[in-house]
Amino acid sequence: MEIPQEVLSVMKKAKKIAVLTGAGISAESGLITFRGKDGIWEKFDPDEVATPGAWKKDPLKVWEFHEEFRKAIAEHEPNPAHFTLAEIEKSSDDFTLITQNIDQYHQDAGSKNVIELHGNVWRVKCLKEGTVSVNKDVPMKQLPPYCSCGSMLRPDVVWFNEPLPPAALENAFKATYECDLMIVVGTSIVIYPAAMLPSFAYEHGAKIIEFNLEPTPISHLAMFSFFGKAGETLPEVWEKAR
Ligand code: OAD
Repeated sequence: MEIPQEVLSVMKKAKKIAVLTGAGISAESGLITFRGKDGIWEKFDPDEVATPGAWKKDPLKVWEFHEEFRKAIAEHEPNPAHFTLAEIEKSSDDFTLITQNIDQYHQDAGSKNVIELHGNVWRVKCLKEGTVSVNKDVPMKQLPPYCSCGSMLRPDVVWFNEPLPPAALENAFKATYECDLMIVVGTSIVIYPAAMLPSFAYEHGAKIIEFNLEPTPISHLAMFSFFGKAGETLPEVWEKAR
């Protein structure tokens, strides 16, 4: 694979690194991405399983969708792309990983400073009390699950038409504005506000390096895009840059 010298040099010299990841980084783990051929949204209508309206109409159907996701995550594991990002963090003084993924594979691979923009499917939230707790039961003991207070629990994820967690968003913007390198991995860059981050980083002078199977709406901003499987390209590039 061709790895331009200036890309290695930028990776070596970067003082503040921000990373943005999406479902593509977990594809080689065996999880299905959202878009494209055979994507989750080809099989399911997000309006039926991932909106507040869907929840209001049929919480069991929404839970069954998330339950499938939880099973798939539990059956698979992080891949070399996740582990490489954890290694980059270890050798960097200032590193923030911003993810749209809800699978927790980054933390499972050893990443520490992770911002989850769209929540985490292993957490549940009480609708009445607003309390959040971890529930790793696979399968769930009861669907839909209930809190000890008697109220229904929902997955602690962000659905379409919902705001992102304010602290996560604020920290993501801060890391974006401050970084001198943003690495963008496995995201189609179509869902806002996450999709804004690479352009903001670029406007603030950061270099962008992208890892994806194909060009995306931010490829033209990137100093280089590595087209291929991130589980192969990212470790290879880091091996040379470290
Ligand atoms: P998408 O499914 O939209 O995009 C996945 C991206 O990963 C595409 O650009 C693929 O080309 C790329 N890709 C696939 N396999 C890859 C591999 N092995 N290596 C590198 N790249 C690969 O997923 P996201 O961009 O994460 O939100 O989608 C963003 C949000 O839309 C999700 O968080 C979710 C979804 O609807 C909510 O549910 C709120």
